[in-house]
Amino acid sequence: MTLILDGNTLAQNHRQELTATVKSLSFVPTLKTILVGNDPASMIYVTNKIKAAATVGIEAELISLPATATETELCTTIASLNNDKNVDGILVQLPLPCHINRKRIFEALDPAKDVDGFHPINRGRLVVDTDALIPCTPLGCLALLHTVIKDLSGLHAVVMGRSDIVGKPMAQLLLNQNCTVTTVHSFTQDAPGLTRLGDILITAVGQPNLVTDSWVKPQAIVIDVGISRHTDIHGKPILSGDVDFDRVAPKARAITPVPGGVGPMTITFLLKNTVKAALARRSLLSIS
Ligand code: GUN
Repeated sequence: MTLILDGNTLAQNHRQELTATVKSLSFVPTLKTILVGNDPASMIYVTNKIKAAATVGIEAELISLPATATETELCTTIASLNNDKNVDGILVQLPLPCHINRKRIFEALDPAKDVDGFHPINRGRLVVDTDALIPCTPLGCLALLHTVIKDLSGLHAVVMGRSDIVGKPMAQLLLNQNCTVTTVHSFTQDAPGLTRLGDILITAVGQPNLVTDSWVKPQAIVIDVGISRHTDIHGKPILSGDVDFDRVAPKARAITPVPGGVGPMTITFLLKNTVKAALARRSLLSIS
């Protein structure tokens, strides 16, 4: 029987624990989310993050900047949040308008408030495996994997995609878990030949239903980060992952659905990172 990894339930369990932690604190953790422009999908994501924060007792606020905001204006906003001692976490929603260099924006964040784990200092700490603020989606994927197997040592993990947000930190996190890690990307030759080697397969490429049963090792654990909006043959809007669920599920040991798999876990780890940053800033927890 294939295990369907229910991200909604796992996220709910983590959020219950987090609510109790937040309740026990003598202060209210605070998260500021910055949205530049009015991309409809980003507006939904940010609204969901703010609503989720409220449910665990984190105070979250949206700061909206116009699509015409300059890189300097965004950096000035970030600097004022960096300097505000009442702010624990700062999130800049991606994607940013093309005229803004996101790598410069990541560097403008105070690493101690970088709840996305995008600042080079946090990226470096992940590489040297000291406690860092780590990107939320890879943390969510790892938590889902740990519900199936506690010790991932020696397993071959194949990560499809090498983005700064998911693929690269995911591969590093799995390496830190003693996995043998292969990264497959758009220049890789014979991608299916490599994905078929994975005891664990993580897909984060944004190509609906790309991965079919012939790409997957029997009894692999399959985690699908992809989420693409498109229409079915009747013109009805649908969400699809990178994995052709119906064909892959019977072959897998465990698999995440889309939606309801990784998505809710990403938001949960944003909330956990916010509380982690809040505790560390007050020297109640070490993150370095
Ligand atoms: N856009 C899509 N995913 C993410 C994420 O994890 N963090 C931020 N800041 N923006 C995103």
